[in-house]
Amino acid sequence: CSPMGKAGLLRHYKEDWPFVEVKTGSELSTGRYNLAFLETPMLHWPDSLMTYLKEEQILFSSDGFGAHMASSEHFDDRLPAFPLPYARQLKKYYANILMPFGALITQLFAKIAQLGLTFKIIAPDHGLIYRRNIDWVLAAYQKWAAGIPEPKALVIYDTMWHSTELLAHEFLQGLTDAGVEAQLHHLRRTHPSDIITEVLDAGLLLFGSPTLNNQMFPTMGEFLTYLKGLAPKNKAAAAFGSFGWSGQAVGLITKELEAMKLKVVHEGFKVKYIPEAGELAAARALGEKLARENLK
Ligand SMILES: Cc1cc2nc3c(=O)[nH]c(=O)nc-3n(C[C@H](O)[C@H](O)[C@H](O)COP(=O)(O)O)c2cc1C
Repeated sequence: CSPMGKAGLLRHYKEDWPFVEVKTGSELSTGRYNLAFLETPMLHWPDSLMTYLKEEQILFSSDGFGAHMASSEHFDDRLPAFPLPYARQLKKYYANILMPFGALITQLFAKIAQLGLTFKIIAPDHGLIYRRNIDWVLAAYQKWAAGIPEPKALVIYDTMWHSTELLAHEFLQGLTDAGVEAQLHHLRRTHPSDIITEVLDAGLLLFGSPTLNNQMFPTMGEFLTYLKGLAPKNKAAAAFGSFGWSGQAVGLITKELEAMKLKVVHEGFKVKYIPEAGELAAARALGEKLARENLK
């Protein structure tokens, strides 16, 4: 294991087993096979380590290239549904586990190129073992790690009595008017991990919340806390919402977006109580404008 792995195992099991510590460049012979090691700290734990079985060109990739999907089949070429439903799982895993570490993944690819490693099998800790779709999974990771967004926008919102929802639908319509891919996500109808999967390659995020007791709606607070930890990059963002008298939600969301270093592209769109026709039209026009200005 890696030196950090040894420290972790000692902490958990309090047993001084005969550990063999390895680092990047270390090699170990089992007699018939030779193993080479590649430390990959923070992908996605500090002790992470990949192992390369030279003779068979197998990469045991730890948490890299994994997915949270169990199957009675172990190999990608044995699963009839591959790759479409699996592609979704691969993306979901990357978005929810590895999104903060894109720069490290890009460095890992550089290291693999530098060492001249080629793979016949990639065997992650989670999900299927790749035998046929190796180039496909490597290309997907390279694209996500580069963090270049698609022309795609999300409207993520919650509502008590549908006023914020009316605005959300107008923003969605405006985004569609601009010809970009647009998705609507109600925070209590789509699981946060599924919304994050869509956030991964979106270039524009619009957040809608009513004001409740001088705050944003609690589900929005929860989602933004989760999103902040995943350190999203290269995204434009703005907030909107309905309020009754003090209307803090939009400002509080905007502060969170700034704290995440997202590109805030509007000061916030607020409507008192139920939006009127002119306000609905303004939301639609703003959605179209933001999409045209911020998505390519
Ligand atoms: C329990 C409760 C607390 C509220 N607190 C505030 C508040 O502190 N400030 C404010 O501006 N509006 C407050 N409102 C009013 C709502 O923000 C307003 O009705 C808004 O239009 C609701 O939007 P929605 O239909 O999207 O839920 C509150 C409403 C409720 C039910």
